[in-house]
Amino acid sequence: QRFSAVIPAAGIGQRMAADSPKQYLPINGKAILSYSVELFLDEPSIAQVVIALHPDDHWFNQLAISKHPKVTTVIGGAERVDSVLAALAQLSDDDWVLVHDAARPCLTPTDLHKLLTLAQKGESAILACPVRDTMKWAGATGLIEHTVDRRALWHAMTPQSFNCGLLRQVLKDAVNANVHVTDEASAMEWAGFAVRLVRGRYDNLKVTHPEDLPLAEFLIARQTR
Ligand code: CTP
Ligand code: MG
Repeated sequence: QRFSAVIPAAGIGQRMAADSPKQYLPINGKAILSYSVELFLDEPSIAQVVIALHPDDHWFNQLAISKHPKVTTVIGGAERVDSVLAALAQLSDDDWVLVHDAARPCLTPTDLHKLLTLAQKGESAILACPVRDTMKWAGATGLIEHTVDRRALWHAMTPQSFNCGLLRQVLKDAVNANVHVTDEASAMEWAGFAVRLVRGRYDNLKVTHPEDLPLAEFLIARQTR
């Protein structure tokens, strides 16, 4: 079994609203993208890391990871799913692929290994966490309509792990059917394939808003100490 990683890094970070896309913001002197990618480069069973970049990207080539022999790049697309599809085109159908957001620099090797173990058994899986707050359903009025039973609710995270040929076909079919694909699993669910939720760490956060930066900084400093 050959394992590969796909890192969608072609977003512009609208919600972060920084001078560069958020994946290039430094945390303790190193770009967020470098943390997200190095975890896979350090994993001997991962043969290749394909990174999808924005067509106007002029930051990636300045990173040390850009010179790594396991790293290749592609031009991403307008939506995250387009970027993932562009990267999957570089891999063979028989590969097993782990898709991981460029903006999740706090993933731990322990959580990554949970997915690799399931992949060896041929199981599609994603990292996820049970929601912890009481969940409210509200309409445009801003008034609560009802409380959602949270016992069945999970936060979907990455990596998300699938056979490459299957994932490519299912993502293409979902896009053609106008399904709103927000993560790989959503397309798999739509196509009727089983996907396992693997309990991961709450601190595998996606850096999204400015207030996430000091959190990521704290978590990374603690991990590398
Ligand atoms: N992504 C991508 N191609 C896109 C859109 C997003 O490769 N067309 C990537 C982002 O770079 C990020 C991941 O998908 O690593 C998750 O997306 P998100 O957190 O939404 O990042 P952005 O789209 O950059 O942020 P925003 O939605 O705030 O603009
Ligand atoms: Mg986005």
